[in-house]
Amino acid sequence: LTKTEILTELSEEQYSEITRLWEITGVTNPARGDTLEVVRQTLAGGGKIILVREDGKAVGTVWLTSDFRRLYIHHMAVHPDWQNRGYGKLLMQDAQKIASELKLQVKLEVHKDNKVAFELYKKYGFTTLEGYLSMIKRDT
Ligand SMILES: CC(C)(COP(=O)(O)OP(=O)(O)OC[C@H]1O[C@@H](n2cnc3c(N)ncnc32)[C@H](O)[C@@H]1OP(=O)(O)O)[C@@H](O)C(=O)NCCC(=O)NCCS
Repeated sequence: LTKTEILTELSEEQYSEITRLWEITGVTNPARGDTLEVVRQTLAGGGKIILVREDGKAVGTVWLTSDFRRLYIHHMAVHPDWQNRGYGKLLMQDAQKIASELKLQVKLEVHKDNKVAFELYKKYGFTTLEGYLSMIKRDT
C-alpha cells in the first residue's frame, strides 16, 4: 500500500527516517548542515517534505524549500531496494503539484554525472541553465 505524506512539521522520528534515506542514497553529508533544526525552519518558512511509504516503510523522499520567489528541490532520494519502480516519478509529480499550487518556479541542482536523476528531471520539464556554474561558500 503506497501512501504519500506532505509534511509541514517534522517529528524526530520522521527526521531519522528521512536522514536514513538521505544517507543510504548519499545525498547528504555532515558538511551540508541538514540538521533537524534547519529542516524544521525551512518547513516553518513554507517548505515541505514529501515522504512516500510502502506498507508503512519510508521508501522515498524529497525536500522542498521556498524563499517565496522560487521553490527549490533538495535531496531526492529513493531507497536502493525500491529504485526503478516509479517512486522518483511519484515524488516529482507531487513536487510539481505543490509548485503549481504555490505558483512558484522551481530550481534544483544535479551532478552532471547523475544520469538517472538528470533524465528524471528532464522528464518533468526541467532544462539546464546554460553557461552557469553552481558556487558555494561553506565557511562564513
Ligand atoms: C534519482 C532517484 C531518486 C530516482 O528514483 P527512482 O524511484 O529510481 O526513479 P523512477 O523509477 O521513478 O524512474 C524515473 C526516471 O528516471 C530515469 N531513469 C531511471 N533509470 C535510468 C537509467 N538507468 N538511465 C537513465 N535514466 C533512468 C528515467 O527517466 C525514469 O523514467 P522511466 O522509467 O519512465 O524511463 C534514485 O535513483 C535515487 O535515490 N538515487 C540516489 C540519490 C540521487 O542521486 N538523488 C538525486 C540527487 S540530485
